Amino acid sequence: MSDLKITALHKYYGEVHAVKGVDLEIPAGEFTVLVGQSGCGKSTLLRTIAGLETADAGTIEIGGEVVNDHAPRDRDIAMVFQNYALYPYMKVYENIAFGLRARRTPRAEIDAKVRKAAQMLAIDHLLERYPRQLSGGQLQRVAIGRAVVRNARLYLFDEPLSNLDAQLRDEMRGEIKRLHQDLGKTMIYVTHDQIEAMTMADRIVLLREGRIEQQGAPLDLYERPATRYVAGFLGSPTMNFIDASLERGNDALNVRLCDGTSLALPMARTAKLAGREGQRVVLGVRPEHMSRALAGDTRSGLVRYEARIDLVQPTGARTYATFRMGDTEAVAELLAHDVSQPGERIGLAIDMNRVILIDPGSDAVIG
Ligand SMILES: Nc1ncnc2c1ncn2[C@@H]1O[C@H](COP(=O)(O)OP(=O)(O)OP(=O)(O)O)[C@@H](O)[C@H]1O
Ligand SMILES: [Mg+2]
Repeated sequence: MSDLKITALHKYYGEVHAVKGVDLEIPAGEFTVLVGQSGCGKSTLLRTIAGLETADAGTIEIGGEVVNDHAPRDRDIAMVFQNYALYPYMKVYENIAFGLRARRTPRAEIDAKVRKAAQMLAIDHLLERYPRQLSGGQLQRVAIGRAVVRNARLYLFDEPLSNLDAQLRDEMRGEIKRLHQDLGKTMIYVTHDQIEAMTMADRIVLLREGRIEQQGAPLDLYERPATRYVAGFLGSPTMNFIDASLERGNDALNVRLCDGTSLALPMARTAKLAGREGQRVVLGVRPEHMSRALAGDTRSGLVRYEARIDLVQPTGARTYATFRMGDTEAVAELLAHDVSQPGERIGLAIDMNRVILIDPGSDAVIG
């Protein structure tokens, strides 16, 4: 059974149409990440599920029951906010226990739950402190602890890690994911960070201007984006998009760039593109699908492209090389020592098995 079912949901703030007809079904136990640019409606959608905002149209069902008219505390949800929303005058213990006390839970049960959650989150030594005596990461754990002691059906997180530094974020990401594995609860997690979405989600729901652009498993979206927007949103450095046209090659189709180069598509890729000869397309190539060409490499689907590198950015493990490809700047993710100086000319091998082709009119991926 699904724990959450949203049907044709709309939300307005006066003139602003923040959620524009969202249909979404989340199976029990799944970790779903709502991701999208700032202002696309993530928090609004989450807050409407929680009952902190009222829906203008559509239904929200939690555990098979329509909850549109239920107050937040009657919705069987626990929520972690971006700003923690802890009570400053209560000690950590009391902050975590608060929701349980409000529900008249027996004292011994509260104590057992608070201590178990604190242990799980490694804050058991902080229970007697006040929030002002904690670091950002510790505050975040307390806020998560307060949510997980509640035996809710749905756990909602709104950008819980955005106030933390990069290292702590990485650590907490892993911890929240582990928490999900241990508790087996249904969780919905909002972020604008695509790496967070990729690393944490069972399923990503990518929102764009109040609508769902695409949803699916992280690697599904990454490898089979439905639109240029999705292809460009996921991945860092971002996918390269190069204007091109399709032309007939010797046996398969070629992708022809405006600099005159022709890149042959593998036969297997051409069936879907039948009848599109002569049409304009946008070629989408991920930086990691370009490598330094090796002499004698005969793997099928690799084509050679001569590049003059004009920017070299080592990250340690890899080096990003920027060069002109057709009418745009493109980035290739090479091995650390593949290129050392701007101005170098090198042969790149592009893996044409992995490229995508986009219709420039509709921005849909066509092959
Ligand atoms: N209380 C409000 N009154 C008026 N407009 C609002 C209100 N809250 C949000 N909006 C508008 O609704 C849209 C969606 O906002 P929302 O906060 O859901 O975005 P978001 O995806 O969570 O963005 P962010 O990543 O910046 O948190 C935005 O255009 C925003 O300006
Ligand atoms: Mg938000």
